[in-house]
Amino acid sequence: MKEMFLKTLGDGHDITEFNLPKDLPVFCTGCKACFHQDISICPNKKYTIPIWDSFKNADVIVITSSVYVLHASAQVKAMLDHFGSKWLAHSPDKEMFLKKAVIITNCAGQGMKNVIKDIGASLDFWGIAKRYSIKQALFYTDWDKVDAKTKAKINKQCISVAKMIQEPVKKPRFKIRFLFNMMKLAHKKLIHDRLQKDGEPETKDYQYWKEQGWFDGNKPWDKNKA
Ligand SMILES: Cc1cc2nc3c(=O)[nH]c(=O)nc-3n(C[C@H](O)[C@H](O)[C@H](O)COP(=O)(O)O)c2cc1C
Repeated sequence: MKEMFLKTLGDGHDITEFNLPKDLPVFCTGCKACFHQDISICPNKKYTIPIWDSFKNADVIVITSSVYVLHASAQVKAMLDHFGSKWLAHSPDKEMFLKKAVIITNCAGQGMKNVIKDIGASLDFWGIAKRYSIKQALFYTDWDKVDAKTKAKINKQCISVAKMIQEPVKKPRFKIRFLFNMMKLAHKKLIHDRLQKDGEPETKDYQYWKEQGWFDGNKPWDKNKA
């Protein structure tokens, strides 16, 4: 399905592919170094940094996972876990707020909604402006046995998503703007005020948001200011 989608996009695109688990064959260790500082000191940085840099520089991020026991594969989850510190609840990258992403999933019969939810949660909390999905139950596990009607359905979705991702993005969808405003409030009021009261130092996330000017009205999707 991923190959069909890339074919639909046509020639002239610079595509960087990562295959899991080959390109990230380790789990998050839970050391929280990324939360306390950033992903540059992740013990698995030789795998994680190239992936995140590639996401940051891409116009479109495409994440694929077939359904494994009604959810996204553990390989994909292991990759997403490594980027928890990039969530809006922590220190998101401003590049994400004008970016598009596509989730591609398939299965034998059931579970694709969960995969979209599993991957979509990270895309949303990274601040991804627009996200789309392509999904299809294949019945057969052997692609050659999948019937022409099913393949035509996938192709139709690929064409539709390929068209939508060409559209320029001026600001993120409502959900992202809402999450941004909620997190701004949480960082400023709920977390910071509580820590101040307890005599605790400012968090690294609070300082990050302050440096970005996001408490002063700047928006990460505002190219001129942020
Ligand atoms: C470990 C494992 C768990 C799976 N669990 C499900 C499942 O819960 N529901 C389902 O419909 N298919 C399930 N499948 C079937 C795959 O999702 C399906 O064959 C898919 O088309 C495989 O795509 P791929 O060959 O591109 O990875 C599972 C396959 C594997 C290997």
